[in-house]
Amino acid sequence: MLKLGDINLDVPFYQAPLSGYTDRAMRVLAHEYGAPLTYTGIILAKIVLHKKAFNKLFFQPRVDEGLVGAQILGGDPEIMAEAAAAFLNVGFNLIDLNFACPAPKVLRRHSGGYLLKDPETAIEILRSVRNTVSCPVTIKLRAGFDKSQESIDKFWQICQGAVAEGIDALVIHGRSVKELYRDKGDWEILSEVKREFPQATIIGSGDLMDAKTIVKRLKSSGLDGVIIARGAIGNPWIFNETRALWEGRSKPEKPDLTEQGEVLLRHYEMIAESRPMLKSIRYFRKFAVGYSKHHPKRKMVQADLIAAKKRDELYATVKKWYGVG
Ligand SMILES: Cc1cc2nc3c(=O)[nH]c(=O)nc-3n(C[C@H](O)[C@H](O)[C@H](O)COP(=O)(O)O)c2cc1C
Repeated sequence: MLKLGDINLDVPFYQAPLSGYTDRAMRVLAHEYGAPLTYTGIILAKIVLHKKAFNKLFFQPRVDEGLVGAQILGGDPEIMAEAAAAFLNVGFNLIDLNFACPAPKVLRRHSGGYLLKDPETAIEILRSVRNTVSCPVTIKLRAGFDKSQESIDKFWQICQGAVAEGIDALVIHGRSVKELYRDKGDWEILSEVKREFPQATIIGSGDLMDAKTIVKRLKSSGLDGVIIARGAIGNPWIFNETRALWEGRSKPEKPDLTEQGEVLLRHYEMIAESRPMLKSIRYFRKFAVGYSKHHPKRKMVQADLIAAKKRDELYATVKKWYGVG
């Protein structure tokens, strides 16, 4: 269905990288609910320069996560290649190079989205990684640094260079770096990339918040696949819903409140495995907000979940609204 080098996915969508979200807990649940592949968020490639830190990687994938890609960020071709090899070595199945991140501190270090201004370095990084690891290598990029003609030309230059280097997929978010998350993503330019490089695997990203929209995009864009990002936060069900619609079945009912509550607590407990209690409660809030959106009393549930400061308060809230825990 979707081929990324020698990895074959049975459906043409998977879980996007989301910094601060797509850690082990989110990946396990995405996998359970039918995502054929998940990603880490950005990992700084230069972590390989700190061998000890690298030995203790708590984010290395385990069997219950299924296939997982590591997304690396950096501007130095050699370090990126070294990092790719190291991540492959600890069990990741695929390497993704981030040429997309719009965070000012990343741009200042001439990595992430900055590389869209510097096609030569971007391609050198890709070549260096490609020559070092045997696993599939993909690139995540935005549709240019800004909307200027120069940026658009450089975007095409990178797409062309990457295809010439045999990239396994170009994963494109149809906004420029400067646009951040404003307005709607431009899907026309993504279709144009596919038309220009029909032999390459082109994957789209942007505003895919529900199964119906995702399947519509898959059918109308002519792309090989899409990734599911914000739509999956507190909503692992989006994967089996999309799978059902894509396979021509009707969309399954949302899980009942019992299942929602159980999943919410499992998500929290997996987060708590690697963080102290107060930190894990704080970190979990953004996911709790996502989960609460599926509850008929979402506003009250959200307020209560956010107010929970300790593990037992979280459990009491879940008991009150979901009847479990
Ligand atoms: C909170 C947040 C974190 C993100 N982190 C990453 C990241 O680490 N790497 C990356 O390539 N894209 C990242 N993205 C971009 C998403 O993968 C995706 O391309 C973008 O959100 C558009 O898809 P959506 O509109 O369906 O959410 C992030 C987006 C958000 C909102």
